[in-house]
Amino acid sequence: MDDLIKRAAADLSAAARSVALTGAGISVESGIPPFRGKGGLWEKIDPMEFAHIDAFLADPEKVWTVLIREMKEIIDRAAPNAAHRGLARLAELGRLNTVITQNVDGLHQAAGNTDVIEFHGTFARQRCLDCGTGCDTAEIDMSVIPPRCHCGGIYRPDCVFFGEMIPPGHLARSREISANCDVMLVIGTSATVQPAAMMPYIARSAGATVIEINPEPTPLTGDISDYILTGPAGEVMDRLVTAVEAAG
Ligand code: OAD
Repeated sequence: MDDLIKRAAADLSAAARSVALTGAGISVESGIPPFRGKGGLWEKIDPMEFAHIDAFLADPEKVWTVLIREMKEIIDRAAPNAAHRGLARLAELGRLNTVITQNVDGLHQAAGNTDVIEFHGTFARQRCLDCGTGCDTAEIDMSVIPPRCHCGGIYRPDCVFFGEMIPPGHLARSREISANCDVMLVIGTSATVQPAAMMPYIARSAGATVIEINPEPTPLTGDISDYILTGPAGEVMDRLVTAVEAAG
């Protein structure tokens, strides 16, 4: 593993443009459970019953009670971990241009990354289903579920539900960045949800080196990934950043 990390760090140091694609696994060490795999949210609840836009619109109170309120409590308690801090350090060193994240927890920005594409939106903002007014999630009155706007309409988080489109600008920019990077770090994603999962394929087919960090294999492992750094994101990122710093 030491040698792999050293070689991956050398590629990262030599890259003119690099990008990270992150998923729920990068926030596991911050106390936010993933969706799939051991302890995953979708083991406990059916995403089609609670995370599909039709389910939300049919019964917002149920989805707020079972899913969104709990997400708020978990995200409120979470702070960036060593992996988020590692990506912020890489950006500070000029070794990382952009983070494309499938996460809605805001932890990359909290760690200090400034160019972050929130592919599935953000939990930090809400918008009213009726009048469209937006507000910070921190400001909404949670004493009544579902929370309501001053116009009486129900709030929804500014996240992408199943059945909704990725914001077109986010998708277009992510594709472009992926097609033009030299190195893509793929951290903590099962790489199973489209269209985010296509970014490593776009990068690889344009000639980029793909560095995957995950304790478990994914569909990218052995096919798309040039380096497979097996382990929890925080520990592996610490070692990778140290190696990049040593490479100068
Ligand atoms: P998943 O929950 O599908 O996958 C989490 C990945 O993180 C798995 O590959 C785990 O092996 C890995 N993992 C677990 N612990 C880890 C750790 N400590 N360090 C690094 N990796 C670890 O999450 P995503 O791929 O992000 O979409 O899921 C994609 C989308 O599916 C989410 O954005 C969400 C979900 O449905 C929407 O809500 C639209």
